[in-house]
Amino acid sequence: MNKRFAVILAAGKGTRMKSDLYKVLHPVCEKPMVQHIVDQLKGCNVEKTIAIVGHGADTVKDQLGNDIEYALQEEQLGTGHAVMQAENVLNDKDGTTVVLCGDTPLLTKETIDALIEEHESKGAKATVLTASAEDPTGYGRIIRSNDGSVKKIVEHKDASDEERLVEEINTGTYCFDNRTLFEALKHVNNDNVQGEYYLPDVIEILQKQDEIIAAYLTDDFNETMGVNDRVALSRAEQIMKKRTNEQLMRDGVTIIDPDHTYVSVDAKVGKDTVLYPGTMIKGDVTIGEQCTIGPHSEIENSMIGNETTVKQSVVHHSEVGNRVSIGPFSHLRPQTKLGNDVRVGNFVELKKMSMENGSKASHLSYLGDAEIGEGVNVGCGSITVNYDGKNKYLTKIEDGAFIGCNSNLIAPVTVGKEAYVAAGSTITDDVPGESLAIARERQTNKDGYVKKNK
Ligand code: UD1
Ligand code: MG
Repeated sequence: MNKRFAVILAAGKGTRMKSDLYKVLHPVCEKPMVQHIVDQLKGCNVEKTIAIVGHGADTVKDQLGNDIEYALQEEQLGTGHAVMQAENVLNDKDGTTVVLCGDTPLLTKETIDALIEEHESKGAKATVLTASAEDPTGYGRIIRSNDGSVKKIVEHKDASDEERLVEEINTGTYCFDNRTLFEALKHVNNDNVQGEYYLPDVIEILQKQDEIIAAYLTDDFNETMGVNDRVALSRAEQIMKKRTNEQLMRDGVTIIDPDHTYVSVDAKVGKDTVLYPGTMIKGDVTIGEQCTIGPHSEIENSMIGNETTVKQSVVHHSEVGNRVSIGPFSHLRPQTKLGNDVRVGNFVELKKMSMENGSKASHLSYLGDAEIGEGVNVGCGSITVNYDGKNKYLTKIEDGAFIGCNSNLIAPVTVGKEAYVAAGSTITDDVPGESLAIARERQTNKDGYVKKNK
């Protein structure tokens, strides 16, 4: 098989976004646009991917990591100039080079594959991915000869009135024979309205050299949409949200109100799970089968088992077992680990803690830096006092212990197996297993107090 390479253009500032954030880092469905492209490319058998970075180079590199390579475009002189920056890495290679823009987040692996297929099967030197746009304003237009072959691409700003009527647009995604690409780029000039070196000019250069140029027309304009401003950004968000939700529904997930349910493209949700309105599932999340999520819940980078309920709650970077009930109004902060049949109720905050099978904290608690065993009952208003202003300390509550309401457990401290802590206690010392700790002032009643003071 032909070797495949990819070049992603990501050096532009994105002037039309009017933003301090570099354009390709603007998120669509919580993931930066350029990351969507990199992730879609992962399934395309590409040997080497080079991102062209410039504006915000370090931030873009931090986002995309070390799996790909980078070339710096110090001055943004146009898309053709951008691709030229990959010359050092690619110019001596035989194979097919796919060029993509970092601002087309909706492009799928399937379409990239189909484009490469078309290119290789036609034996073309260049193949451009095109689409038919209802409103082609702003896009480069595909100008064809009388015989239907692609002649050139004209940018909107450079196009004549007649050329502007053409609805077939350049999506900004192309396949090239690698060596031919870098040869042709040498002939691109900046003699145009924007004074830029346009990558699409390569098409006309190759056409004049009688090389085979192909075009692959997708039937889904939406997928190839380029995001240049915030109006397009919100359109991309809507399209991706719809795509993700419809796929989940086809796979057996009930979504009560898909317009108001946000699920990351990387999330996995099991069948017969119901997502209620106002649910946001962000990042890398796995949710099992027959769960009820929402209304109004946020789950981020977490794993949730089967038959679990999360109502009006926030779950971040946590692991939750089967048949767990969370909420309403619970907050699971990072590194919380709940076993099966656990119950976490209203106004309970958990952080860096574990709670094993069958344990409960039903109301008004803060439990941080804690290890809680099986079958433990944490009474209403109980708190692990984990912080002395400098350091954090561990609270251990062993299997079957019962923590009475409104107790303070001052860490480091251990409550032994099946021990009881009396309501209202402030526990400073370990409680041995199977014992009762009472740590509160005894009550005194002053008989006749009211009368005496009248
Ligand atoms: C480009 C195409 C246009 C096509 C459209 C599809 C050119 C000249 N025009 O226009 O035909 O219809 O995409 O969305 O290619 N970039 C760099 N360095 C630069 C300039 C741009 O890395 O010097 C990057 C940008 O970060 C961006 C991508 O290239 O990710 C495209 O640039 P952009 O300015 O958005 O081009 P468009 O005007 O959308
Ligand atoms: Mg663009």
